[in-house]
Amino acid sequence: MDLIHRPRRLRRSETLRKMVRETRVSKSSLIYPMFVVEGQNVQEEIPSMAGQYRWSIDRLPEQAEALLKLGVDKVMLFGIPGHKDACGSEAYAEHGVVQEAMRALKARFPELYLIGDVCMCEYTSHGHCGILDGDYVDNDRTLEYLAKIAVSQVQAGADMVAPSDMMDGRVAAIRDALDDAGYVNTPILSYAVKYASSFYGPFRDAADSAPAFGDRKQYQMDYHNSREAVKEALTDVDEGADLLMVKPAMAYGDIIARVKEVTDVPVAAYSVSGEYCMVKTCGRLGYVDETAMLCEIAASAFRAGADIYLSYFAPELARAMDEGRIG
Ligand code: PBG
Repeated sequence: MDLIHRPRRLRRSETLRKMVRETRVSKSSLIYPMFVVEGQNVQEEIPSMAGQYRWSIDRLPEQAEALLKLGVDKVMLFGIPGHKDACGSEAYAEHGVVQEAMRALKARFPELYLIGDVCMCEYTSHGHCGILDGDYVDNDRTLEYLAKIAVSQVQAGADMVAPSDMMDGRVAAIRDALDDAGYVNTPILSYAVKYASSFYGPFRDAADSAPAFGDRKQYQMDYHNSREAVKEALTDVDEGADLLMVKPAMAYGDIIARVKEVTDVPVAAYSVSGEYCMVKTCGRLGYVDETAMLCEIAASAFRAGADIYLSYFAPELARAMDEGRIG
């Protein structure tokens, strides 16, 4: 056959395939989300997230050590307080569970980069991401709380804050508050493009944060939309976001690509609990090769344009990189 183009030529060996690879991944892109609870010596497996746990603060150092050894040096911390109330006061308490976790980790592992998820739903008795006025989440009143949460986390040792509430104007409010408190160099990773998603189901189990009534569609985005993602992304950059996040990741590659194209800040993608749960469950049932699948899904986010990847599979990904299964 007289073929000019033979794309298969470049697929002849692993060495060659690796050389011409378009997407390269690295451990420095990985962020591992973790759940912290009150108490002593707690390691509670999350039923819908096999292999993921709620840890008490005294159990975090062993986890941090294992992560650092694998080359994962960034974590996103979620606090699950013992006590929830209408205004989520444990979220900004000086000695709240997440603040104490940050203090403990920072003191022992200064090289571990700590990111605080700034939101209220894990802390409010009603499970919504803000302050209620009747059944409406009051945007503007919520902003002052979010700002307090962010400052309290940074005071406790957070290196970066990541607001995930989807209130309008929160990036500006948090930037203001951080600057006023003297934290001009603390970056904000905005969950700018966060969809109202059924993929968060297992997380809400983990954090006991399902809304007591209604849903989050009045503040999180409608998954039919992508131009709106551009609007959210640009708005947050204008307000001072240093990095942007798209969430979920797996069904949103088009959105990651679009946000990457229209902005000039680093873009993160959050592979959320439902993505983890699907892969883990199918893997445990023996229906798929779990490692192969989680690598493929991660690569798809990077291929779409993500610079940073948050995943409950971060340790497995780091191991897969060591083994050359993804790279
Ligand atoms: C807090 C928050 C949620 C997630 C991250 N931050 C839950 C939600 O919005 O309901 C979801 C993460 C996941 O599913 O892994 N607002």
